[in-house]
Amino acid sequence: MTEEKLSTFTAPKGTYDLLPPSSATFLAIRERIAAPARRAGYGYVETPVFEDVKLFSRGVGESTDIVSKEMYTLTTKGGDELALRPEGTASVLRAALQANLHKQGNLPVKLWYSGSYYRYERAQKGRYRQFSQVGAEAIGAEDPALDAELIILADDAFRSLGLSNYSLLLNSLGDKQCRPVYRAALIEFLAGLDLDEDTRRRAEINPLRVLDDKRESVQEQLVGAPMLRDFLCEECKAYDEKVRELLTANGVAFVDDPKLVRGLDYYTRTTFEFVHNGLGAQSAIGGGGRYDGLSEMIGGPALPSVGWALGVDRTYLALEAEGVDLDLPAATAVYAVALGEEAKNVLFAKVVELRRAGVATDLAFGVKSIKNAMKSADRSGARFALIAGDRDLAEGVVQLKDMSTGEQTPVALDALVTTLKEKQL
Ligand code: HAM
Repeated sequence: MTEEKLSTFTAPKGTYDLLPPSSATFLAIRERIAAPARRAGYGYVETPVFEDVKLFSRGVGESTDIVSKEMYTLTTKGGDELALRPEGTASVLRAALQANLHKQGNLPVKLWYSGSYYRYERAQKGRYRQFSQVGAEAIGAEDPALDAELIILADDAFRSLGLSNYSLLLNSLGDKQCRPVYRAALIEFLAGLDLDEDTRRRAEINPLRVLDDKRESVQEQLVGAPMLRDFLCEECKAYDEKVRELLTANGVAFVDDPKLVRGLDYYTRTTFEFVHNGLGAQSAIGGGGRYDGLSEMIGGPALPSVGWALGVDRTYLALEAEGVDLDLPAATAVYAVALGEEAKNVLFAKVVELRRAGVATDLAFGVKSIKNAMKSADRSGARFALIAGDRDLAEGVVQLKDMSTGEQTPVALDALVTTLKEKQL
């Protein structure tokens, strides 16, 4: 016999359970984040939670923390090397390429998704090992209006939830013309600094990531580092300006952040991050950008694309930080309490009928006392309670109690469903 009892199990480190009542808010966040993208012609895509590990090492980048330190990898009994998806973009693009969606109609192919992602990170508030994203990707078009569309959709999503205490950081990472020139200049600059062994290695493999180093000792040395902005080619500059112009013309404010690099290697040109001011260290509530080279990196044709993913867990925390309560319909509108066997049969049938008529109705089960059952009615948040004893039924009525006023009126059994439907529950 092991000493471990079932009740001693807890959710693995860095994960948590979603339970009522907060799970209802979580679902509503997912819904509302996706709504603007759906209205803009993005179709739903769902991909497996695991993929060939090479999809991510090639796509997201061998030198990123996500791939080198944070992937959950496994070898199947058949010998396949798989990884739990650390992000959605590579999978969605893989799925679109596999199904030839880019050959079936006008480009871009617009897709949105919602699901769980996995990164073996140091767990803390707002940073989990399983987290939830809603994402949108527009595949196969190079048009600054598309970048602007996506950024506006993300901003609309956050606003629709009632959030306001956040900023949009914006940068351009250049393209395959200008970025290598910048990269060389940055490598030369970094070579002259006093950096530790690890950082020096990073500077050689992925010098842009060094700009993102949070340590003060490194940041102090980076003063005077060449900035990508000054190296952008004419096309990238014009593209970036057009994106900015469209954002401004459509009421979306942004902050220039020339050091915004992001933790994934596939980005080109437009990159952005939404940062909430009430969340402390884990402040990014969403991010994305253009990834014109990713398709070729994973074996597809040239398909310039752009997209984002918004973090549902952190959006939840942002709502809490701003004290926003989503106005959610009560899960239960009507709560039925039957007193006695016969009453139970009749009320049970009425509950079934009400539900079929679209009224959210619950019923007290295993009633031992009316007092307890009425407490349950109260806790359910229902606007009305239906109470019926054998005497009511003999008269062909049930008692309808308005839970906010306490007022109780008899309603004929036959008229019950219409009466409640008229109250627009
Ligand atoms: P990302 O910046 O890695 O981008 O993640 C997007 C959002 O997911 C973050 O802003 C954050 O809100 C949330 N998130 C990331 N990691 C965690 C975590 N460990 N715990 C809680 N929330 C987290 C991407 O994943 C790209 N695929 C976005 C994209 C789409 N780029 C182009 N298209």
